[in-house]
Amino acid sequence: MASFYGDDLAHIQHDGFRDFSARAAPALLKLLHGAGLRRGTVVDLGCGDGTWLRALTRAGHAAIGIEVSPALVKHARRQAPRARIHVGSIYTTPLPACDAVTALGEVLGYLPAAGERSARIPGFAAFFRRVARALRPGGLFAFDLVVRSAKRPLHTRNYREGEGWAVLAESIEDAKRGRLTRDITMFRRIGASDRWRRSHEVHRVRVPEKTEILRALRDAGFVAKASNAYGRNAAMLPGRAAFFARKPKRG
Ligand SMILES: C[S@@+](CC[C@H](N)C(=O)[O-])C[C@H]1O[C@@H](n2cnc3c(N)ncnc32)[C@H](O)[C@@H]1O
Repeated sequence: MASFYGDDLAHIQHDGFRDFSARAAPALLKLLHGAGLRRGTVVDLGCGDGTWLRALTRAGHAAIGIEVSPALVKHARRQAPRARIHVGSIYTTPLPACDAVTALGEVLGYLPAAGERSARIPGFAAFFRRVARALRPGGLFAFDLVVRSAKRPLHTRNYREGEGWAVLAESIEDAKRGRLTRDITMFRRIGASDRWRRSHEVHRVRVPEKTEILRALRDAGFVAKASNAYGRNAAMLPGRAAFFARKPKRG
């Protein structure tokens, strides 16, 4: 089976890419606070290495993570020992009753990795209805996605390196199919040796229209808006949008 956030990519995500959720955390905590949530229950979908879960538990919230990659869950359990973390897909793991749901880092866009057998992924509207059922009235839902651009389809090549690793990723959007394929090649030093291992993953991501997501959120009963940032310190990269939705309080 093709690996999806296997050991090497999980290590690289933790060591080199956790800065985004760390920068988003203060604005998201402020949002929860502003909604009257001081010690709420927050479910983080695709919690990755647990950076946001840690910020939540430190701020006094009960944090629950759902993450499909066992390698990332190991990091998350180390980083956020007070969070409860379920290993599994967000599409098959029951969503507990909660005050807020988050999904940072394009989580809701991911399709199963090539060659992987997985549960059928529901459409956005069906999934948003599930989130709405789990949330208490007045609850919050915040997430981000790659969205279709009015300009030209995304085509990016990125390179990043850290201590003992390097990663190269090429992302190509197929605008007609509303899909993005990210081809990721990693190099990781083996222990303390001067030998390196090469590994490879291919991720496929849905690329909806921003208006389609807003419509699906409203159809699921949310009051919703899109933004280009999770607050001052966490602007979205080009072609991404953040969504903030609130389940109305009853009557
Ligand atoms: C770009 S990472 C973001 C991780 C973390 N939320 C953050 O902001 O640092 C995307 C995450 O989504 C997770 N993911 C993707 N599809 C998933 C699914 N169906 N169920 C659970 N986790 C999923 C991946 O394993 C990965 O941890």
